[in-house]
Amino acid sequence: MDYRVNPGGCLRGQISVPGDKSISHRVVMLGAIADGVTEAEGLLEGADVLATIAAFQSMGVHMEGPDRGHLRIEGVGLRGLRAPSDIIDCGNSGTAMRLLAGLLAGQEFSCTLTGDASLRRRPMGRVFAPLAQMGAAIEAEDGRAPLHIHGRSLQGIHYDLPVASAQVKSAILLAGLYATGDTCVREPAPTRDHSERMLQGFGQPVRVEGAQRCLRSVGHLRGQSLRVPGDISSAAFFLLGASIAPKSDLLLEGVGINPTRTGIVEILTRMGARIDLLRLREVGGEPVADLRVRYAQLRGIDIPTRLVPLAIDEFPAIFIAAAAAEGVTRIRGAEELRVKESDRIAVMAAGLRTLGIAVEELADGAIIHGGVLGGGEVASHGDHRIAMAFAMAGLVARESVRITDCTNVATSFPNFAELARTAGLDLEVQTS
Ligand code: S3P
Repeated sequence: MDYRVNPGGCLRGQISVPGDKSISHRVVMLGAIADGVTEAEGLLEGADVLATIAAFQSMGVHMEGPDRGHLRIEGVGLRGLRAPSDIIDCGNSGTAMRLLAGLLAGQEFSCTLTGDASLRRRPMGRVFAPLAQMGAAIEAEDGRAPLHIHGRSLQGIHYDLPVASAQVKSAILLAGLYATGDTCVREPAPTRDHSERMLQGFGQPVRVEGAQRCLRSVGHLRGQSLRVPGDISSAAFFLLGASIAPKSDLLLEGVGINPTRTGIVEILTRMGARIDLLRLREVGGEPVADLRVRYAQLRGIDIPTRLVPLAIDEFPAIFIAAAAAEGVTRIRGAEELRVKESDRIAVMAAGLRTLGIAVEELADGAIIHGGVLGGGEVASHGDHRIAMAFAMAGLVARESVRITDCTNVATSFPNFAELARTAGLDLEVQTS
């Protein structure tokens, strides 16, 4: 499935983006292994989260839904999962695979996790190195999926994360629920803290000791009712589109603004964007606001490296903002982008060059020279965020932009095309 975006237009009105993907995965996981019922509202019904739901159903967890964002989970307790009936397919989702590896390492059964071609290329050694120290037995060829996990009894560890990764931190903390003693993870830079917040909400204390997060399993989680906030990583494409398209004025309702996720707001604001955070409130243990974004002429900046982990999923959007800005934008310290759903440095650089923008690719980032975008055909390489970022680039391109291989947009934002059209993007979905 391809997108074709015709130039012109702007983004106006009031929209709500779907539920946060990271939080949706976590509520399914914690709800499944909690005691009692967990009810989620506003859950993302994207393919990635559906893969996590199917994984727990195959391990004997009964769930109703998801239906219009509502999911009811009958938790089986920490020790209540059964060996899955088949190989678990995590689809495109790194979060599903890495967090499940931690959660399943301490079970009393064996299982196998696999995923699509993109996920089978991504590095998994970063999760099973610390899990092995805890006593886990995980086999994988060349540090890549499929992962064969043989449940073992686990001991807590103190682990210094070599890369800033919320997925690895979360995998270790989830394994810690099944371990004896303290499990502590130290991060080199702050990363999203949804696991820590949600564990607390489910009755499992997590201690914050400087850059270290520690837990000692209390032996059970308590089912919860919670609302999932809108995903700032999905809102990011609209923050981008409205910032670059003249006459735009858009309100995004109920977006999560957890400070470990708001790097995109800070980066765009430093570039000159007009973004207002309105009606600040708390939803499901997470800060939420309505975001108003209006057109502004952006200018290139040097992106502070401390903001990279806080905007790690937003770089496809940031590359487009940089291309539409006046002047030069430098991205450094972002080598993790090379091991996302695609190599996002290479794929974004190639796509922008197709549209006539000068980009110098660096091992850990890129130097982007803002300019006038032309039209053309851009390959998304099956990467949902790259597809959505280039769709927004179409607002300011001189000719139409065709983006190929957009099916995976459904992993994180199933109604993207519809919502973008509602806001004013002239987007056609083409199925061959
Ligand atoms: C996520 C963590 C990040 C992010 C991913 C979701 C999570 O990955 O890119 O989309 O839910 O914990 P890393 O931990 O690999 O940085």
